[in-house]
Amino acid sequence: MEKTAAKKKLVALTGAGVSAESGLKTFRDSNGLWENHDVMEVASIEGWRRNPGLVLEFYNQRRRQLESAQPNEAHKILAELEMYFDVYIVTQNVDNLHERAGSIRVLHLHGELTKARSVQDESRVYDIGYKDIALGQTGEDGAQLRPNIVWFGEAVPLILEAERQVQGADVFAVVGSSLVVYPAAGLATALRRDARAFLIDPKGVDVFLPENFTIIKETATRGVAKMRDILLGH
Ligand code: APR
Repeated sequence: MEKTAAKKKLVALTGAGVSAESGLKTFRDSNGLWENHDVMEVASIEGWRRNPGLVLEFYNQRRRQLESAQPNEAHKILAELEMYFDVYIVTQNVDNLHERAGSIRVLHLHGELTKARSVQDESRVYDIGYKDIALGQTGEDGAQLRPNIVWFGEAVPLILEAERQVQGADVFAVVGSSLVVYPAAGLATALRRDARAFLIDPKGVDVFLPENFTIIKETATRGVAKMRDILLGH
């Protein structure tokens, strides 16, 4: 029997821009405000300590918004590319639109909206779907529940696994990320020099990129379709 060639590995690093056409706002496209809030007020450990009620309500709203949002063509094409590539999604997004589009391997660097965790013990994680988290609501350890989100001021435990994936990539695609937030923004430096790389963003980015990057200045839905056509030779 003829042995089929192993699929090449495609790693996509996605950011808020991949979900913009699903109606979810990016962080830095509206004067540093995210859904009318200073990012540091709602997405930092200091913000949580200052006003946990506000932070819970903010993420409760994001969860409700996510329930009615739908994956767009960019999420769907990245999932369809699994027919041709060994695809690994590394996302900075806390939404679940990659999974809902059918992607199998999705690593959430910054956590997930549909999960809660104990403030005392980060290993106590609960699936909550689209349900709210209330002030005073506790887990089995009696500690307050909080969104299972990595905030500014907190470690990013999955970054080493993400780096490992990027090191093994034959194709690397950055979709809809300003690449200003570390450590995710540094992932491109883990890429092999002979790898093929794409950056898809309607504005491009302000950071230096190695010369193996092809820049596609398009929205995610159009840009990911273009990348697919290039990769599949259409
Ligand atoms: N398609 C593709 N890209 C888009 C679109 C679109 N339709 N609309 C906007 N963009 C681009 C913007 O030009 C910008 O470069 O998406 C990028 C979004 O950048 P940010 O808002 O900075 O989002 P992101 O890079 O994901 O932020 C990283 O910062 O606030 C933290 O933890 C949070 O995960 C987040 C991290």
